[in-house]
Amino acid sequence: MRVLGIETSCDETAAAIVGRDDSGRAKIHSNVVLSQIADHAGYGGVVPEIAARAHLSALDSIVREAVRRAGQELGEIDAIAATAGPGLVGGLLVGLTTAKAIAAGLGKPFLAINHLEGHALTARLTDGIGFPYLILLVSGGHSQILEVKGLGEYRRLATTIDDAIGEAFDKTAKLVGLPFPGGPSVERAALTGNDGRWHFPRPLKGQDRLDFSLSGLKTAVRIEAEKLAPLSDQDIADLCASFQEAVCDMIADRAGRAIAMHERITGNTGRVFVAAGGVAANVAIRERLEAVCQERDYRFLAPPLDLCGDNAAVIAWAGLERLEAGERSAMDVPVRPRWPLDESAPAIVGHGKRGVKV
Ligand code: KG4
Ligand code: ZN
Repeated sequence: MRVLGIETSCDETAAAIVGRDDSGRAKIHSNVVLSQIADHAGYGGVVPEIAARAHLSALDSIVREAVRRAGQELGEIDAIAATAGPGLVGGLLVGLTTAKAIAAGLGKPFLAINHLEGHALTARLTDGIGFPYLILLVSGGHSQILEVKGLGEYRRLATTIDDAIGEAFDKTAKLVGLPFPGGPSVERAALTGNDGRWHFPRPLKGQDRLDFSLSGLKTAVRIEAEKLAPLSDQDIADLCASFQEAVCDMIADRAGRAIAMHERITGNTGRVFVAAGGVAANVAIRERLEAVCQERDYRFLAPPLDLCGDNAAVIAWAGLERLEAGERSAMDVPVRPRWPLDESAPAIVGHGKRGVKV
């Protein structure tokens, strides 16, 4: 069984082929990702129209490359899966329409995949874990903690009431003059910074709810940066380190409490905590999560960096899982710019934004 996956929901044009080897283990045959970072860098954020056009011009050759690297013919693929949402509508349309066209041309099944499900199931692709488990999904557009109870069965324990964590990294970088994307820039600068120079706020800490909030922290960083301007390299490093430390604290607090809540609900099953999404590439955050999990005797898993950020291998994998469960999507399924994994969770204003408005 081999599935071609296509991902175009934000600023990566990606195609991949994923299947199972003879023993039934997941196997990534190819995983091609073309980042548009350079196209958007001058704007300090992802510009939806530029993203859609870039997907349109690149996708054909990215799909061809994924098929070539897998050493296969397109006709040998068993199904085509594409991200149908959530994300930027123009890019989603490019990927979904392309996938439908390939599926129709080959007479193969087509599967419309939730991008977040791709992130949520990544640890089953990489480590073959079973259900249930907890996942922290942290990217430029999302900051959520979910209970993954089964395929398509998600319970949201936390989300952000304002900015996503990746977005806060991007905005902090912009504020102190570091290049986009902000996450890696801030993490690098923080390495030489003093994380105790400021004790920035940890919004919502100590409250019963598990949700994230980043706007107060972001404002606090801006106020200090404005007081100091012009910033020296050491000021920038210290601001980044203090900001990152506040984020780490917030994440560690929520992760610990989510584990406690999960245990109350599911008892002693699973005991796995997964981190996914672009922000999960951050080593300081990974280390804090590792410590939280160790304390509570949970296994901590963070997918390898190339599967943490946006890619099509995880979309192909979600497609494979759904195909094996006997599912097929209709050819008239629309794109869904907003598509929560847990549809029963109440919408929170400001949550689910993707891309940074410029
Ligand atoms: O999952 P992703 O590649 O794309 C989506 O947003 O879906 O995540 C990108 C986000 C950006 O906001 C980027 O700044 C952040 O992840 N990011 C990081 C790091 N690497 C990427 N944030 C913190 N530390 C990092 N090392
Ligand atoms: Zn993503």
